[in-house]
Amino acid sequence: MILGSSGSIGRQAIDVTLSHPDDFRIIGLAAHKNVDTLLRQLEELNPIFVCLVNEEAARDLKARYSGPAKVLAGKEGLEEISTLPEADLILNAIVGSSGLAATLSAINAKKQLALANKESLVAAGDLVNERLKKQNMRLIPVDSEHNALWQCMVGEDISEISKMILTASGGPFWGKPKEASEKVTPEQALDHPRWRMGRRVTIDSATLMNKGFEVIEAHHLFGIPYEKIEVLVHPQSIIHSLVEFVDGSLKAHLGPTDMRLPILYSFSWPKRLQSTLERLDLAKVQRLDFFNVRTSDSPCLALALTAAEKGLSYPTVLNAADEVAVDAFLSGKIGFAEIGNIINTVLEKHDPITIGSIGDFEVVDAWARDRAESVVLRT
Ligand SMILES: NC(=O)c1ccc[n+]([C@@H]2O[C@H](COP(=O)([O-])OP(=O)(O)OC[C@H]3O[C@@H](n4cnc5c(N)ncnc54)[C@H](OP(=O)(O)O)[C@@H]3O)[C@@H](O)[C@H]2O)c1
Repeated sequence: MILGSSGSIGRQAIDVTLSHPDDFRIIGLAAHKNVDTLLRQLEELNPIFVCLVNEEAARDLKARYSGPAKVLAGKEGLEEISTLPEADLILNAIVGSSGLAATLSAINAKKQLALANKESLVAAGDLVNERLKKQNMRLIPVDSEHNALWQCMVGEDISEISKMILTASGGPFWGKPKEASEKVTPEQALDHPRWRMGRRVTIDSATLMNKGFEVIEAHHLFGIPYEKIEVLVHPQSIIHSLVEFVDGSLKAHLGPTDMRLPILYSFSWPKRLQSTLERLDLAKVQRLDFFNVRTSDSPCLALALTAAEKGLSYPTVLNAADEVAVDAFLSGKIGFAEIGNIINTVLEKHDPITIGSIGDFEVVDAWARDRAESVVLRT
């Protein structure tokens, strides 16, 4: 089951399944409103279910599609498709905190869940973990850094970790003067040096907010305290992350910059499958560089780390305000440097609560979006 099938991760996941026809079969697809792509995917994959969350787009799909798949619509449709008894594994590759409902539905139905939607853990990590604990389940991390950490942890004991190191490419503006990044256009910010990704995660990579999200994601996935998680800029993106153990040993995961590799391992785990994906030629790579990150040069990363430490609903606000600010930047309403300022203003105005239910999440998420939108209007 692929949720977010029209997106960057969704399409790469389809590619992975098509290259392993004897191992995987896609039985359902879901997206927001991209009718044309879903029609092409229906034709190619012949699933049993399809869902578009946008009701109008779902009506359009029904009118244009005459195949056998059952067409579902809206949030109810997404819930149904995330809990289908026919599915062995759900990949949640929806972008943004709108992926949270599907994460919780899949956990409630005790479905094996491969999670690319990091916002589920950023916006409501404690809630997701509480549900996982109740169901005696673990998530499969798809994000390349977390998938790398997970692979480094095979056969290891979490109590013997001294730290986890998340690598960051640094994005398109790493090493450039701060003033240069203040005038960038959305096109320049979308031009990531190493990864081809969806628009939001690409902008979050350029501001380093994405790395802040990943620190929060690692904390919730592995139950590791924030003081044991570090970020290291590694522009070549060959080492996807590292784990340091109490005896001083370091384990690193290396590979080509290709999301199909962590997606494949997420699908094949606990086994590994043969693949034709590009092999890493270390002699060609020759050198691997690493740099510490100064949070004083990365305001969004600093905001994320502070929100993470404060906990409660601060990370929920961080994510919602970031979604609004990134949208505003992409639609030309604000400059690149305003993204962090807007998020900061919203965080400063927030009275935190505990996110103990989806209702708590919805209240805080809506408040933060509303606040962020009014700050955008005043900018
Ligand atoms: N791309 C990467 O390399 C990468 C790497 C690591 C982690 N991730 C994470 O993976 C997730 C997906 O990223 P992406 O880059 O694949 O994003 P993307 O290319 O923007 O695709 C997003 C997908 O989510 C769907 N979607 C959006 N809003 C939705 C809603 N309300 N309900 C249901 N579906 C909705 C979109 O459908 P429509 O097309 O119909 O709008 C699309 O299929 C994000 O959390 C991201 O942080 C991505």
